[in-house]
Amino acid sequence: MSATDRNRIIIFDTTLRDGEQSPGCSMNLEEKLRIAHLLDDMGVDVIEAGFPIASPGDFEAVTEIAKSMKNAIVAGLARAKPADIEASAKALNPAKRRRIHTFISTSPLHMKYKLQMSPEAVLDAIVQSVETARKFTDDVEWSAEDGSRTEDDFLCKAVETAIRAGATTINIPDTVGYAIPDEFGARIRMLMARVPNIDRAIVSVHCHNDLGLAVANSLAGVQAGARQIECTINGIGERAGNAAMEEIVMAIRTRPDLLPYKTGIETTMITRASRTLSTITGFPVQPNKAIVGANAFAHESGIHQDGMLKNAQTYEIMTPESVGLTKSELVLGKHSGRHALKAKLKELGFDLGDNALDDVFARFKVLADKKKDVFDDDLIALVEDESLRDRERIQFVALAVHAGSTGPQSADLTLRVDGEEKQACVEGNGPVDAIFKAVRAIVPHTDSRLLVYQVHAVTGGTDAQAEVTVRLEENGKTVNGQGSDTDTLVASCLAYLHALNKLLTKRMKTKPDCDPGP
Ligand code: KIV
Ligand code: ZN
Repeated sequence: MSATDRNRIIIFDTTLRDGEQSPGCSMNLEEKLRIAHLLDDMGVDVIEAGFPIASPGDFEAVTEIAKSMKNAIVAGLARAKPADIEASAKALNPAKRRRIHTFISTSPLHMKYKLQMSPEAVLDAIVQSVETARKFTDDVEWSAEDGSRTEDDFLCKAVETAIRAGATTINIPDTVGYAIPDEFGARIRMLMARVPNIDRAIVSVHCHNDLGLAVANSLAGVQAGARQIECTINGIGERAGNAAMEEIVMAIRTRPDLLPYKTGIETTMITRASRTLSTITGFPVQPNKAIVGANAFAHESGIHQDGMLKNAQTYEIMTPESVGLTKSELVLGKHSGRHALKAKLKELGFDLGDNALDDVFARFKVLADKKKDVFDDDLIALVEDESLRDRERIQFVALAVHAGSTGPQSADLTLRVDGEEKQACVEGNGPVDAIFKAVRAIVPHTDSRLLVYQVHAVTGGTDAQAEVTVRLEENGKTVNGQGSDTDTLVASCLAYLHALNKLLTKRMKTKPDCDPGP
């Protein structure tokens, strides 16, 4: 390894595996692929695409992601069981570069109560699992689950055993988010000093955020010798989440004096990745969240604004542009043609075929008529919205709403259900309630519950497009729907329909000739 390689930090993103394990955060195949492509484009080194044995959906997602990643290594998770490892290997088969990630608990608490295995049996399982994984690929990661609560001597033995069996990456998770930075750094330093074959593997850290210390612990791990960090976009993940990728990457970029490391991440894609994930999952980003919160670069107080005008560095340690938060460019107007739209979309990363471009162009013209200025973010919302509506069984046709203080509020809604137009006029407690009731009147779905209804503005101004997320639950399964429009009520209806269409697809997978309603 050269001196520069020694300081290169491998970014292992687990948004699609540990992140997707957050309650209510499940994504469908198309959504997972969208996130995976973004991660690949932004320079993530390893994408953990799922846990193939967990469900046929996870298996399919890992396979599809494996097929289409250009640069990233695709990883699949596996317990220390032959069936898990074989499922991972099979799902990862189409990948250009694949990694099997196998794990077992090593702490006294987990071994006794969760696994009910002796330490010796755990060591045997490590050898078996890593050797099995190595039959399928040379790139095998082994994780010591609950590593931060594992006794030093046993952790050293387990790590040495895994490396001897063929593991090329050794991951030390703080599974329950219990560690404190000094302590976690010391644990990694201890492994670097005591495990005789440690130089034959890359040491990785995987920290959860139960005490709000996941990023600090991960960086302490790197300062102690780790060279891979496992993290997620927006820090999503089990319970309080995982270490946030954007915080890690920007901390390294902003403090080279104390963190003399490099990542391969194109930081200008951070904001887009954060927003796309938030829209897909319906998990809002708190306004004061570091790097990607709506207020992260806002300066409210007069003293700060005055300082900023004199020299931005007075109150700004990194530029908004460095995370892709440019003042959205005015791109096109209502007189712009199809060629200009195509070129602009290409610049934004969307290479559309002729039919898709025609549809987006038609919607762009409608938008440009309603909205004075059309920005980059408006176009992104438009294309993403268009791709959602393709092939849906229930399609939006028209909506008229009576709203305001002189109720009752009502919605007159027309939908096309499997090609046939249906209409309902319904009153509700407010316009959104009336719209959702009108959808239910046309397509009854009494077993499902609305869990989340969230609205945010794509750009500034009162003519901004609203982007709405709706989460529905039916028989323990949740789906998220998105919709965007300059009219918040139309966007709400589109988001609800998107979620409902997904529920129908889920139902159809269990019952092939499912009827969407009368
Ligand atoms: O938190 C954890 O311990 C994990 C392992 C499976 C790596 O997610
Ligand atoms: Zn985890």
